[in-house]
Amino acid sequence: MQRTEIKAALGLAGDDREINVRGWVRSRRGNKNVSFIALNDGSTIKNIQIVANMAVEGEAQESNTTYFTDDDLRLVTTGSCLNVTGRLVESMGKGQTVEIQATEIEVYGTADPMTYPLQKKGHSMEYLREIAHLRPRTNTFGAVLRIRHNMAMAIHTYFHEHGYFYFHTPLITASDAEGAGQMFQVTTKNLYRLKKDDDGHIDYSDDFFGKMTSLTVSGQLEGELGAMALGKIYTFGPTFRAENSNTPRHLAEFWMIEPEVAFIQKDELMDLEEDFLKYCVRWALDNCADDLQFLNDMFDKGLIERLKSVVDTDFVRLTYTEGIDILQEAVKHGKKFEFPCNWGDDLASEHERYLVEEHFKKPVIMTDYPKEIKAFYMKINDDQKTVQGTDVLFPSIGEIIGGSVREESYDKLMSEIERRGIPMKDMWWYLDTRRYGSAPHAGFGLGFERLMLFVTGMQNIRDVIPFPRTPKSAEF
Ligand code: 4AD
Ligand code: MG
Repeated sequence: MQRTEIKAALGLAGDDREINVRGWVRSRRGNKNVSFIALNDGSTIKNIQIVANMAVEGEAQESNTTYFTDDDLRLVTTGSCLNVTGRLVESMGKGQTVEIQATEIEVYGTADPMTYPLQKKGHSMEYLREIAHLRPRTNTFGAVLRIRHNMAMAIHTYFHEHGYFYFHTPLITASDAEGAGQMFQVTTKNLYRLKKDDDGHIDYSDDFFGKMTSLTVSGQLEGELGAMALGKIYTFGPTFRAENSNTPRHLAEFWMIEPEVAFIQKDELMDLEEDFLKYCVRWALDNCADDLQFLNDMFDKGLIERLKSVVDTDFVRLTYTEGIDILQEAVKHGKKFEFPCNWGDDLASEHERYLVEEHFKKPVIMTDYPKEIKAFYMKINDDQKTVQGTDVLFPSIGEIIGGSVREESYDKLMSEIERRGIPMKDMWWYLDTRRYGSAPHAGFGLGFERLMLFVTGMQNIRDVIPFPRTPKSAEF
């Protein structure tokens, strides 16, 4: 019989129709007369209740009812996978409108109760990370992963509807886009027998690509090439950073969305950042109601309110210099920060969160940072001290977007590269955008998992990606 997904089944009328569902047992309870099996197939956070009437010796049986023996259901345990046929009927029980009166229960795959790791409810997040291969079967991770899919769809839909082209940038690269030296090397060389030149430097000429290559930290530089031809592009792919920061907001492998747009100025870039983020959050509210409600009830009573407030509010736009003034004023009035916040310092997440959560109580787009704390490609302001960065700071997250207007002048870009001593021999192609038909342009990068943290209210970035990669951890 053709299978019906549980999400669809739960929307049907309980009119005694015959129906087939398949899924994993979440729980089983009952008494000697009846067994109730909660079945979930991942299509929705909700389970469907399977009712199995049990044959009791000596008791009369109705002719139009199917009875099961204890032996029939011996292998129906938490975690096992079932193929169930039955009649869809109205439910007397609380919390569901329909249930299935089983006529046939086939066990596809058993799960030994002695060893199946997801027996009880309410495992800690830390424990679940150790069984990341099974945690998608929990309510929490089912919800998070359905929301993750929906956010990816929101992003593609937003850009597609606004005339952007999805542009695929390479994951293996010979350039350090952010100039921060946090790259993982890619090599086929035998690391125990590296060929070195007379000065003791590694000779890459016989390596796979004939030069030193790494996993990309950002698709931006190639994205700019796309924007200089297609006008508006976006990337959406994995990026890698070997930063040894064991925080709840950093991954070594994360997904980034990087739109790059020709002919826009700083104000239009900020409009885009704000409009795009609101669109994604609204999409979650519109499309993930059941899963959000679950996360709201279980973990974070303020989640849905917080999402709505972001959609309905104008983001604050503030220069870095104004931000530093506010922070120093707060310090004067007794606010204690762990890190200093003098003009020129990179803001720590405690500073970002003070501005967003305590001072403004709204998302903030911070602009015009000191050039020394930002990347080489950002457009320098007339004051020669600040650059046209446009980061978005979010409640409970801190930096969610890093963006900027790009320096389009060849001479200015070149002199910044030289001033910083950036090795540009493999970047001639990037500089060519400024040599041939250069144009004003701007773009940003959104960390997908940071968006996921915000939308799900989860506390740790390891819990919004199926298989997190962090220092000393690459299991699964
Ligand atoms: O601020 P970042 O480093 O900017 C760039 O990479 C630019 N090339 C983007 C652009 O203008 N096209 O990174 C962008 C965003 C951050 O705001 C943050 O959300 C996320 O990427 N991010 C991380 N997310 C998880 N783990 C990490 N280690 C991250 N590093 C950055
Ligand atoms: Mg940044």
